[in-house]
Amino acid sequence: MHVIGGPASTALAERISRELGNAPFAIPFSKRFPDGELYVRIGGRLGGEEVVLVQSSRTDQDFIELLLLEDAIREAGARKLIVVVPYFGYARQDRSFFPGEPVSARALSRHIEAVADAVVTVDMHSPLTMQSFTKPVFEASGIPAIARLLRERPVDLLVSPDKGGVDRVRRMAELLGRPWMSLEKKRIDSDRVELSLPTSTPVDLEGKQVVIVDDVISTGGTIVEAAKLLRRHRVRAVSAACTHGLFLRDAFERIKAVTDELFSTDTLLNPAEKASVAPDVAQILKREVPRLG
Ligand code: R5P
Repeated sequence: MHVIGGPASTALAERISRELGNAPFAIPFSKRFPDGELYVRIGGRLGGEEVVLVQSSRTDQDFIELLLLEDAIREAGARKLIVVVPYFGYARQDRSFFPGEPVSARALSRHIEAVADAVVTVDMHSPLTMQSFTKPVFEASGIPAIARLLRERPVDLLVSPDKGGVDRVRRMAELLGRPWMSLEKKRIDSDRVELSLPTSTPVDLEGKQVVIVDDVISTGGTIVEAAKLLRRHRVRAVSAACTHGLFLRDAFERIKAVTDELFSTDTLLNPAEKASVAPDVAQILKREVPRLG
């Protein structure tokens, strides 16, 4: 198996190649033409090879590079192409709310799978997007990577900031053998949220060392409000962990000001990157690629 690390995911791709027993690893050349168009080139022929392309699609540029690299890999003669999209951009636009809107995440998945034989992603925000693929698609989780890290820390309680994260926090709680709870979240707009404790099951937070677990940290609004709420209820320490750390604008500084520690996986480059999903992605590749035929 050959691993190609797209410009958005070079470090993670190299870690994945190591997890695959030091699979041959290459970084493509990429540049921009004066008119703004992107150019990529991979070295050498890949005749008859199984190729794994790793490229998060955080920006539109990342996505175009991904499509160009898929084409280059096929041109080079790859027999099988598995595209690993550690952070799948547009995944939160998983449905259309008003007439005239696209299902943006589905639009991207269709283009990616048109050339790939299979797709692997990590903590895709919505099951709807997973279901929009017609080719085999596999989802690794960032939860085991974060759990490996949290095992070294004192943790009394794991908290999901909203109901949508209950499965994730429950899985983390099982791995660490710790209790969990979920807050109630009301989104006011794309920057503002309101959080509250559940009224149904009162929880004593005083003196607890708490970790908030989310899939994505974007503007940071969710984590900042969750941390403030938990502090008002006199927790001893509050940390935040996510799979995908986007940390837009001043999110990182705002979260640091209200938390004790911040953890993220390496699906995106960011200053809180402390855990790698490489073993979890490699495990899927080792298990599933031979089954693709
Ligand atoms: C929402 O459903 C997600 O799980 C995250 O909680 C959300 O995307 C985080 O966004 P922000 O950091 O902008 O509050």
